[in-house]
Amino acid sequence: MNTLVTAVLLGAGRRGFHVYGSYAIKNKEKIKFVAVAEPIRSRRENFAKLHNIPSSRCYESWEDLLSEKKLADLIFICTQDQMHTEPTLIALDKGYHVMLEKPMAHRLVDCIKIVKKAEETDRILGVSHVLRYTEFFLTIFNIIKKGLLGDIVNISQRENISWYHMAHSYVRGPWANVEKSSPMILAKACHDLDLLYWMVGSVPKKISSFGNLLYFKSEKAPPGAPKFCLNGCPVKNTCKYYAPRTYIDIIPIIQIMLKGKNRIYKFLGKLRKDHIKLLTFFAKIIPPFKRLRYWSEWPVYYIYSGQEEDYSDEAKLKILKNSQYGRCVYYCNNNVVDHQVVNIEFENGVTANFTMHGFSEREGRTLRIDGTEGTLIGEFHDSNKTLTLYNHFSGEKQTILKQKLSLSTSEHGGGDPKLIDAFLESLRNPKIVQPLTNARECLESHLMAFAANESRIKGTVIDMDDFRKKSNNI
Ligand SMILES: NC(=O)c1ccc[n+]([C@@H]2O[C@H](COP(=O)([O-])OP(=O)(O)OC[C@H]3O[C@@H](n4cnc5c(N)ncnc54)[C@H](O)[C@@H]3O)[C@@H](O)[C@H]2O)c1
Repeated sequence: MNTLVTAVLLGAGRRGFHVYGSYAIKNKEKIKFVAVAEPIRSRRENFAKLHNIPSSRCYESWEDLLSEKKLADLIFICTQDQMHTEPTLIALDKGYHVMLEKPMAHRLVDCIKIVKKAEETDRILGVSHVLRYTEFFLTIFNIIKKGLLGDIVNISQRENISWYHMAHSYVRGPWANVEKSSPMILAKACHDLDLLYWMVGSVPKKISSFGNLLYFKSEKAPPGAPKFCLNGCPVKNTCKYYAPRTYIDIIPIIQIMLKGKNRIYKFLGKLRKDHIKLLTFFAKIIPPFKRLRYWSEWPVYYIYSGQEEDYSDEAKLKILKNSQYGRCVYYCNNNVVDHQVVNIEFENGVTANFTMHGFSEREGRTLRIDGTEGTLIGEFHDSNKTLTLYNHFSGEKQTILKQKLSLSTSEHGGGDPKLIDAFLESLRNPKIVQPLTNARECLESHLMAFAANESRIKGTVIDMDDFRKKSNNI
């Protein structure tokens, strides 16, 4: 394959436009988008303009794009979870290599179909398990491989989802209903289950899990709370989930800025929180201040689905009055869990326990790996990342990694560009048979997630051999 890879995009949303699209802009010698499918006109047109795609190669839906002959070497599938299977199967049949967003699909039967089709058609299918490519998790992997922990015995990992991310994505947002999207243990934690499988280096033997929806339900609503925050909520000044607080005052973003150690971010956070009039004035003349004043990034971006992207307070208020993101968090008809624990015994005897919950003061993962020769303790937050290694024999403690907050490199801890680099390299270099996060490799984490879900619902321990056999026969 040529050095310059040509690509088409399905879904010019957060991942498609801002992660893969931005990568292509910065790496013009490596990749060029030649077509896009996206129903939201502004996104489609902006993407086409940025990538010089002619209007004849802009489509309103993935079906239209995939009804054409093969247009490029590679296809990025960045639609929502429940819209992955069909385009992936068709694209593979047409001869595209595929970069598929995680989770591969929201149902296990579809994940298996995708893996089988990739193998049958002999195409390269990469799954965006980006965390394997971050400096943080790569460092851990290398520490394990070098034997600095001896033999691993136990891993304890937590996915501490912040209170605001939980409300935004899994209560008000796209991953709130298991009938419409993925179970939360798949949507959010397939990354973590993948990391556990990768770090342990063995497949799981048994899995058990517990969890439920404890808090985000109507009986927890404050008395008199209306269905939409802006319909005269009596607790609007004291409810942390009051929608304008998240999407207009951007309190969650300010909290991230204030919690880190970076003095500039602390200053900017204070300015946004306590001196809005002054910031509004500076925003007229200094572009970075405009970005902070009229925030358009996560999570605000998601409230715009088709509307002209006007980021003024007035426009946001208008949208929140009746959009899904303006709903009271206790009246969202959501049914995914808000906390879940998973216990795993791997074939090599290592045990792991994983906790996922949506009530953390800050977003991030924490983990502890205990081995026969050492202990490794890690924190992977937006505001800081640290890794500390303890050696049992010498009693010494060593700081392996210490990174401060940087909003500009928050591409999954630097993992996003490295994932794409590695994927493109596997297309160009015939010696690399498959990328690190290929379909077959990533199926394991998906199996783990579906097994955990089944265990949680049925109250049973899942024997993974039986589960695998049963799943492959679907
Ligand atoms: N790798 C990661 O860590 C990571 C992080 C976030 C999201 N994701 C996954 O990425 C995928 C996309 O998530 P997102 O946050 O970018 O969502 P998004 O809603 O921002 O983007 C999805 C886009 O698909 C478009 N779309 C809808 N119907 C379409 C159709 N028929 N044809 C073409 N496009 C269509 C939507 O208009 C939207 O712009 C999801 O599967 C999600 O779970 C992965």
